[in-house]
Amino acid sequence: MLTWDEEVKPIPPALNNGSNSSRVPHSPVQTVSALPQLAAAVASARPATIAARPAPTAERRVNAADKRIINGQTDVNQLVPFKYKWAWEKYLATCANHWMPQEINMNRDIALWKDPNGLSEDERRIIKRNLGFFVTADSLAANNIVLGTYRHITAPECRQFLLRQAFEEAIHTHAYQYIVESLGLDESEIFNAYHEVPSIRDKDQFLIPFIEAIMDPGFHTGTPENDQKLLKSLIVFACLMEGMFFYVGFTQILALGRQNKMTGAAEQYQYILRDESMHCNFGIDLINQLKLENPLLWTPEFKTEIKALFLKAVELEYRYAEDTMPRGVLGLNASMFKGYLRYIANRRATQIGLEALFPNEENPFPWMSEMIDLKKERNFFETRVIEYQTGGALSWD
Ligand SMILES: [Fe+2]
Ligand SMILES: [Fe+2]
Repeated sequence: MLTWDEEVKPIPPALNNGSNSSRVPHSPVQTVSALPQLAAAVASARPATIAARPAPTAERRVNAADKRIINGQTDVNQLVPFKYKWAWEKYLATCANHWMPQEINMNRDIALWKDPNGLSEDERRIIKRNLGFFVTADSLAANNIVLGTYRHITAPECRQFLLRQAFEEAIHTHAYQYIVESLGLDESEIFNAYHEVPSIRDKDQFLIPFIEAIMDPGFHTGTPENDQKLLKSLIVFACLMEGMFFYVGFTQILALGRQNKMTGAAEQYQYILRDESMHCNFGIDLINQLKLENPLLWTPEFKTEIKALFLKAVELEYRYAEDTMPRGVLGLNASMFKGYLRYIANRRATQIGLEALFPNEENPFPWMSEMIDLKKERNFFETRVIEYQTGGALSWD
C-alpha cells in the first residue's frame, strides 16, 4: 500500500512554474500546496489567470457549469465533475476497441506480395501509394493533437479523449510501418512519398498551415480572430483530414480485402477505420459544442471560408484518386470516387451545421458504412491472439 507521501511525487522542476530550484521539498503538505502551480503550468491557455488568483480552497473546487471547451477558467487537472459526458463516453469506447498491429497475421499478404503473379501492377500501385500517404499522415495527426489542439482545449474530458486519440495515431503509424516491413517495401521510398509524390504532397501541404497555426507557441485563444483560427483548424482536421482524406485509401484497401487479397493489411485498415470514424465523430462533437458556447464565431464570412476549404479538399482527394487509379481496378475507378467524395463532403458539412455542398449525391459504396461498424461483420475479440495484462497481474518487484 502506498502512503500519501509516496503517491504524490514532488513537482518536477520543468513544471514547477519558473522555480529554479532543482530540489522540491518532499513533504505531503508542501507538495499539495504546489498543486495550483502545476495546474497553472499545465493549463497553458490561461496560466497567468490561475496562478495569479490564489482563491480560497472552496472557490477552487470545480463547478461543472463553469467548464468551457476553450478559454475555460476551471482547473484542467480535475476531470470530474463531468460536464461533457459524450467526450468521456467516447474515451471509454475507444479504450474498449484497443488493438495492436502485430496481433494480425500477415503471412498470406507476404506470400501474395512475393508471388510475381499474385497482384496486378495497378493493385501494387494502390498499396504503395496508400502506405506512402498513411505512414506520415498519422504522424501529422498525432503532432497536431499533442503540439497543437491539446493545449487550447480547456475541458479535461475532451483532453482525456485527445490523449487516447494521440496514442491511437501512434498505433496507426505502427500498423502502416508494420505492413511496410512485412512486405519488405523500400522504406525510404514509402516514408518520403509525402515529399516526392505530388498527389500526396498536395494533400499534406493543404493541411500543414492549419496545424502550424495552432502549434505556434505564440498562438493563444481568447480573441475572436484566434478562436476562429482554432475552430477552422478543428474543422480541417476532423472533417477534411480524418473525415475525407483517409477515405479513398481506406476504400481501396478494403476493396482488396473483399476480393480476398491482402487480407492482413485489410484487417489492419478495418481497425484503423473504426478508430478514425470515432476520432471524426469526437471532432465533430467538439466543433459543435465549441460553436454552441461561442455562437459569434460562426459568421457568414467564416462559413464561406469553410465551404471553400471543403471544395478544395474534395478536389485534392479526387486528384489523389486519379493518381492512384489511372485505370479501373478492383471494380473501382476514379470517377466513382467523385460521387463518393461529394457524398462524404455533404455529410461532414451537415454534421457541423452547413448546408450540403452537392445536393442529392448518393453513396456509391454502401458496404463502406458497414465496415465502420465491425460488430456487423464479426466479433473482434474472436480473432485476437494476445490477452492484455490486467491490474491484478502487475508486480512492483
Ligand atoms: Fe490515425
Ligand atoms: Fe485519427
